[in-house]
Amino acid sequence: MTKKYRITLLPGDGIGPEIIAVAVDVLKVVGQKCDLEFSFDEALIGGAAIDATGEPLPEATLVKCRQSDSVLLAAIGGYKWDNLPREQRPETGLLGLRAGLDLFANLRPATILPQLIDASSLKREIVEGVDIMVVRELTGGVYFGKPKGIFATETGEKRGVNTMAYTQSEIDRIAKLGFETAQKRQGRLCSVDKANVLDVSQLWRDRVIAIAKDYPDVELSHLYVDNAAMQLVRAPKQFDTIVTGNLFGDILSDAAAMLTGSIGMLPSASLSADGPGVYEPVHGSAPDIAGQDKANPLAQVLSAAMMLRYGLNEPLAATMIEEGVTKVLDAGYRTGDIMSAGMIATGCKGMGEALLKVL
Ligand code: IPM
Ligand code: MG
Repeated sequence: MTKKYRITLLPGDGIGPEIIAVAVDVLKVVGQKCDLEFSFDEALIGGAAIDATGEPLPEATLVKCRQSDSVLLAAIGGYKWDNLPREQRPETGLLGLRAGLDLFANLRPATILPQLIDASSLKREIVEGVDIMVVRELTGGVYFGKPKGIFATETGEKRGVNTMAYTQSEIDRIAKLGFETAQKRQGRLCSVDKANVLDVSQLWRDRVIAIAKDYPDVELSHLYVDNAAMQLVRAPKQFDTIVTGNLFGDILSDAAAMLTGSIGMLPSASLSADGPGVYEPVHGSAPDIAGQDKANPLAQVLSAAMMLRYGLNEPLAATMIEEGVTKVLDAGYRTGDIMSAGMIATGCKGMGEALLKVL
């Protein structure tokens, strides 16, 4: 029997509409093969939403997302909205989506694809075989802690404040997901904190150690975030799964992504305890190349694969997409960001067509 899924599409800004169109085509084809029927419904977020409604995350978008089985997001932001006050900025829409759907866990894989190894700025022997999963806490920490704001001091000087705070339950749920993720991978979990300086990190470390008792099969280690950044570029192969807070995860996941040399290839999944997840590329909206058919749609396509695997529990369809991506790379198709000598230069649409052909 055909299984039916409702997908909310959030194309957002910049290259978003171009890359999400490729992912939709791919999902339709894979759906036919795997007896899955997707119904797609678009909603506004980011700059596109600001232009249409005055706010970066209209309530109607949140409602639509909550009513769907999964959300596929492209990217938000652009020069046009960069100087708006914070509450009207595209980024605020993204943070609102994360909070509104309770997406407490962000999975960001950084995998070196053998076909693209020379795209890395690091030496081949350092990055060959790198396969890291960053599990980033996404709805707490200094991004959301209170008090926050810019206040006047008694002397009339301005003082900017954010608060890095985690409750025990917030740490416990992301730690559990970190252990479970490691169990499905190579069984090694590295928890990253700054417990030598920050109280919030001491609680983080204490709780991770407490939760570890339930996962005796996972090898747990701890690193301070500065050391973790250094180790990521020195010897990245030592890492399997990393679990960390919101801000440290933001920074380390960019560093991990860049190890692969092709941020245009990396997908991510943001998950809640029971509602729909949001699946999106790690890269941004690339306003400089928007509308020029130059974008690499593969991170968006691989995000659709993550949606099938983690959100809809359709691993066969997910694998089909991932294998399709491998095949187009093996066949030599490259967008500008991953181009190298002797390969076949193509654009966003061309990459999509090549993908549909192999599927
Ligand atoms: C990310 C981005 C966002 C973040 C911005 C756009 C709010 O950098 O998803 O990593 O800081 O989380
Ligand atoms: Mg970031």
